[in-house]
Amino acid sequence: MIDETTGALPVEGMPAARVLDEIRALRAADRPTHGGRLFAYVYDPGVAGLDELAQAAYAESAHVNGLDPTAFPSLLAMENTLVGAAARLLGGGPGTSAPDVVGSVTSGGTESLILAVKAARDARPDLTEPRIVVPVSGHAAFAKAAHYLRVALDPVPVDPVTLRPAVADVAAAIRPETVLVVASAPSYAHGVIDPVAEIAAVAAAAGVRCHVDACFGGWTLPWLRRLGAPVPPFDFAVPGVTSISVDLHKYAYAPKGVSVLLHRDPGLRAPQFFAYADWPGYTMVNPVIASTRSGGPIAAAYATLRHLGEDGYLRLAAVTRDAVAGLADAVRAVDGLRLLAEPESTVVCFTADDPGLDLFVLVDELTARGWHTQPQLAYAGLPASVHLTVTAAVAPRVPEFGPALAEAAAAARAAGPVVLPPELLALAGSLTPEALTPDLIAGLAAGLGLGAGPAPDRMAAVNTLLQAAPVRLRERLLVEFVGLLQRPTW
Ligand SMILES: Cc1ncc(COP(=O)(O)O)c(C=O)c1O
Repeated sequence: MIDETTGALPVEGMPAARVLDEIRALRAADRPTHGGRLFAYVYDPGVAGLDELAQAAYAESAHVNGLDPTAFPSLLAMENTLVGAAARLLGGGPGTSAPDVVGSVTSGGTESLILAVKAARDARPDLTEPRIVVPVSGHAAFAKAAHYLRVALDPVPVDPVTLRPAVADVAAAIRPETVLVVASAPSYAHGVIDPVAEIAAVAAAAGVRCHVDACFGGWTLPWLRRLGAPVPPFDFAVPGVTSISVDLHKYAYAPKGVSVLLHRDPGLRAPQFFAYADWPGYTMVNPVIASTRSGGPIAAAYATLRHLGEDGYLRLAAVTRDAVAGLADAVRAVDGLRLLAEPESTVVCFTADDPGLDLFVLVDELTARGWHTQPQLAYAGLPASVHLTVTAAVAPRVPEFGPALAEAAAAARAAGPVVLPPELLALAGSLTPEALTPDLIAGLAAGLGLGAGPAPDRMAAVNTLLQAAPVRLRERLLVEFVGLLQRPTW
């Protein structure tokens, strides 16, 4: 039945205060965006007053349209400032070996990566079947870019110990049709920095562009280096690096919706643009995927950078570095847990070596104690792991995390590993995506407690089932499960 008072378009408009109350009530079911207990999705510096500043800046420019930089010079000025700041931080600008760096502000890391791939593809119109070389630890957004842009993806395996690709494998994957080679600084899953200098060198030797995905680490690694960390060269100081992405809505601590894509020079950026005059309306010229763009996220990012400044980011990086060290110690202190990689940026990633300690059950036990971590499924010889994105707001929580982790591990051991019915596991292992029927999906979803509404508190069974499935089936099952959630409210 259609509810005329609670639907999105009530017959009679509602008072502002009530609408806000409704939103706050809905938000109560969300994971906590602030407070340092959520180790993915959010980036919280824990700086008093910063949210209020960003919100005020957002409000100033929310209705400004980035569609036409000549109509709204305020937005152009702020975008150019953001690009300049990112370029300088990443080894470009006056007085560097990359003085002609240019860039664009995009809506996020995925858009930056799609555009890096588009620019590389469209620079080679002579190729009918362009390809990109991406280590498997590269972000999934490269696969999305390849899919959207009909570019073939050549994955390069990573070493199970170092979690980095071998440069020889990257070189071997480059073909005459290759338009782009990718390196991560660092990878999202494990937080390790690829051998950027060596990868860029083999790309340059082949005459191919090299993109460094610093979406995650581009705003932390330079500060960590200034603080004395042994950060290897990964930016425009490296010859052969042609483009770099860095997300301001991650470690620049800006509200969501801002990333920067940099190119070493304007010629490299040119094929990123889309222009169209062959219709009776305005000539459309877009540097990025969106055409109409809100000024809100850009103004909020501008305010955030100006307010925090270099000293602020340095301080936040130092606090985050110490939090990473504390969390890593907490992992080392628990028998049966092992760091998958020694932290070299702002990720702590661990696995379980003891079959009696089910990592997915551990994640549920942590959730039950108010700690929200991110499980990662076993993949191509790499074990299942738990990912922690560490931000400055985590620091005051570190002393509580150690005991909570130890307690959660003890509880997970006591509960024992997830045991799924053997026939269900066999089904997951043998089913093909094509064989999935709506009934089968509905049955699986119901059996796992998935359906309308928030995910169940305990996800270990779901993760165990997904892990038993081949990757194509994992993708399809999750598409179907998410599809069940995305239904209109009437
Ligand atoms: C290394 C890296 N690249 C790309 C992305 C995609 O960014 P977004 O989620 O903003 O699209 C992420 C997100 O975590 C990332 O860590």
